[in-house]
Amino acid sequence: MIWCVGAGPGDLGFLTLRGQQLIEDADVVAGFTAVVDLVRVLVKPTARIITMSYKDQVERLDEVGSLHRGGSRCVVVFMGDLHFSGFQFLERVERACQHQVETISGISSAQILASRCRVCFDDTTFITFHRRGDITPFQEHLVHVLQDKRNAIVIPRPWDFMPAAVAVYLMERGVSPDHPTEVWEHLTRSEAGWKGVLGECISDFSDMSIMLIRARAKNMAMRGNVR
Ligand SMILES: C[S@@+](CC[C@H](N)C(=O)[O-])C[C@H]1O[C@@H](n2cnc3c(N)ncnc32)[C@H](O)[C@@H]1O
Repeated sequence: MIWCVGAGPGDLGFLTLRGQQLIEDADVVAGFTAVVDLVRVLVKPTARIITMSYKDQVERLDEVGSLHRGGSRCVVVFMGDLHFSGFQFLERVERACQHQVETISGISSAQILASRCRVCFDDTTFITFHRRGDITPFQEHLVHVLQDKRNAIVIPRPWDFMPAAVAVYLMERGVSPDHPTEVWEHLTRSEAGWKGVLGECISDFSDMSIMLIRARAKNMAMRGNVR
């Protein structure tokens, strides 16, 4: 079995105990370099670390698959919770490892955002644009979510559909510029938050950012930097 473990949003205090145990016991720990770097301190000295990038992920995962077939205990680490914006990578792991894959949830950046912004999941839809391929259906879905008076938690796409581009797109589609909006960067690490309304969302943010667009409230949200 290959364990696919959600490593949480950055600060290891948000890694689950189960995830920590699996990483500590693993013979092989693999994943994108930035995610492996978060958990590197937990990896035993004799374990093999396999880091990868978007370009070489298929080859590196094949390596993990053959080590797994050779009897090594393998863990692949994912950013946040792999069940949100992690499935394209999960499918690549499954292909390389012939579907002998188990998933362990992690704490998502979306959960930390919800905590910072006091937003209720029951009234909120999660949408990621951090994916390969055509994002048009997901853009359309976002418009409908706001028309349905639900909040949207949005992962932007570096670098062609970042928060300012999301705002422009929505307003061009007739969404009001008055929606209270927040963008948070590097949650649980060197975090910074911006708070305002959709029409004011014009700044550049890093690729480690996540956005909340609230359903329009009767009382407009406070504006300005929150951190
Ligand atoms: C491929 S998605 C994976 C999301 C992850 N599965 C999760 O549950 O948070 C990667 C994107 O999530 C967002 N993200 C992940 N961790 C974050 C954090 N700590 N703070 C802000 N955004 C974060 C960023 O937009 C990042 O580019």
